[in-house]
Amino acid sequence: MVVDVRTLTVANLIIQLLLVMIISGAVYLAKNRETGRHCTVMNIAAPVEIAAVAAVMFPSMVGYVLHEEPRLVFYLVMGIHHTFGISAIMLWIYINLVFRGIMTMPSNLRTVMKLALASWMSSLVLGLFLLIQVLS
Ligand code: HEM
Repeated sequence: MVVDVRTLTVANLIIQLLLVMIISGAVYLAKNRETGRHCTVMNIAAPVEIAAVAAVMFPSMVGYVLHEEPRLVFYLVMGIHHTFGISAIMLWIYINLVFRGIMTMPSNLRTVMKLALASWMSSLVLGLFLLIQVLS
């Protein structure tokens, strides 16, 4: 079954909007000191994001690179989008290694969390730019 880039892009948009709502709830929980539930929610959201990258974003990027005319700005934004996305996922892995006692607790955990959130949101904003380019 061949799924075109546009269908994949719209499917991804729906997933990303759902994830933003879930992450907002998780940050709200952390701010209300419900960090256990915050961890649980983030340990559901991040794997869903990784699945979206593997099943939707990576195939659509390959489809775009193989079948569409290369555009410098689009590729630049796609590169930065991926860098922020991978950073958010790496920080999530790091945070879990810290809470499993495999890595040492950073001096300012909240800064690490805010960096993870900023990476995730920056990737999302650039992703929306890419989406508009693909659908226009
Ligand atoms: C990408 C994944 C994650 C993001 C974006 C994230 C985001 C955040 C944010 C924004 C805060 C600060 C809230 C505030 O200003 O008070 C926070 C706090 C916290 N998060 Fe996360 N989080 C993530 C994953 C996790 C995971 C997986 C765990 C546990 C295993 C966790 C445990 C905590 C704890 C304990 C705090 C409180 C830190 C403190 O107040 O010193 N977070 N998180």
